[in-house]
Amino acid sequence: MVYYIRFLKTPRFQKQKQSAYISALICISTDLGDDFLAEEVDLTASWVQHSSHKVRAQTTFRWQAGSRQSAVSLGPFSLSAVTAQTAVLKIQLADVERDTLEEGSIPLVISANSAPFGPQWEPAEPLIRRDLCIPGHLRPLSIWEETGNSIARHIWDAALAAVVFLDRVVSGSETTMSGLTKLLAPGTASLRVVELGAGCGIVGIAVATMHKNCEVILTDLPEVSDIVSRNIKEASSQHTSTSVTFQTLDWDEPTPALVGETTDLILVSDCTYNADSLPALVSVLGRFVQESPELLILVALKRRHESEAVFFDLMRTAGFHSSHVAVNLPAQWDQMDQIEMYCYQKA
Ligand SMILES: C[S@@+](CC[C@H](N)C(=O)[O-])C[C@H]1O[C@@H](n2cnc3c(N)ncnc32)[C@H](O)[C@@H]1O
Repeated sequence: MVYYIRFLKTPRFQKQKQSAYISALICISTDLGDDFLAEEVDLTASWVQHSSHKVRAQTTFRWQAGSRQSAVSLGPFSLSAVTAQTAVLKIQLADVERDTLEEGSIPLVISANSAPFGPQWEPAEPLIRRDLCIPGHLRPLSIWEETGNSIARHIWDAALAAVVFLDRVVSGSETTMSGLTKLLAPGTASLRVVELGAGCGIVGIAVATMHKNCEVILTDLPEVSDIVSRNIKEASSQHTSTSVTFQTLDWDEPTPALVGETTDLILVSDCTYNADSLPALVSVLGRFVQESPELLILVALKRRHESEAVFFDLMRTAGFHSSHVAVNLPAQWDQMDQIEMYCYQKA
């Protein structure tokens, strides 16, 4: 299980007598936010100049085993040094240079970049940017999340594993799911990709950066609209021939207009945690496949409780068959955690 650095209090410049400091409060918790990192780790806090991306100052501090939060303080700085600056605070593991999404290289703790703050004393917006490096890509995949505990507006472990897996498929190093390998091979005809329950949109946006010739439609409930739009805008400079858009799609609503067109691939990451919503999810998948019988569906899931098994029964009853593989994510105490990838097609 991967851990994520989150801001409990977002960073700000703070004046103390004739000096200024950067202060923030962080925690390191799971995607569900239900568990804190129990290992001791050394972290680096960097004041990064927003305009130039240059590191202005840095400090190392320790996350103590058993902590639920840790205060971050950087300084003192002269008042004149901070009053002309817009800054970003980056917190990362001290011994990890970048967060690489490659099996075996993913860090146990995912770094956090704050939203810009300063030059005045206002705190940064309650947002976190994750910069995730996909092997072979020059620029990291930058995804914004909210700092709070919303289910939809942050990244989940299955999404990280799905990006790792899709990168392997697109680069040709993963061939166990031959239909998916063929579909995502470079140079294939334009694809229409729909992500259900996209949250921040990380998986669909990753596909758009990996496969240059596709139209990606991210869907979810209206509550993700702001964060996903921010991520689409952030990504828009990286992929020129790919269109990424957001549309509301509630699995419980009558057939959405989206279903009426031919779709090649549906992405579903970490959407099977609530057994009550599974019949509606499977019903939407069934409606898509009626329009697009060749459609492939990639489901990334982390098993959280036994009730999720009903998803497999529902898919089988709806006439889908699948192949599956597992992707390893790091866990505490040098353990590994498995995320399952299922590629479904209508039998
Ligand atoms: C655990 S989050 C996963 C988010 C993202 N796919 C990821 O892996 O990072 C589950 C997502 O399913 C969405 N969801 C839950 N019920 C839904 C419904 N009835 N219709 C559409 N989306 C739904 C939530 O809004 C949320 O974004």
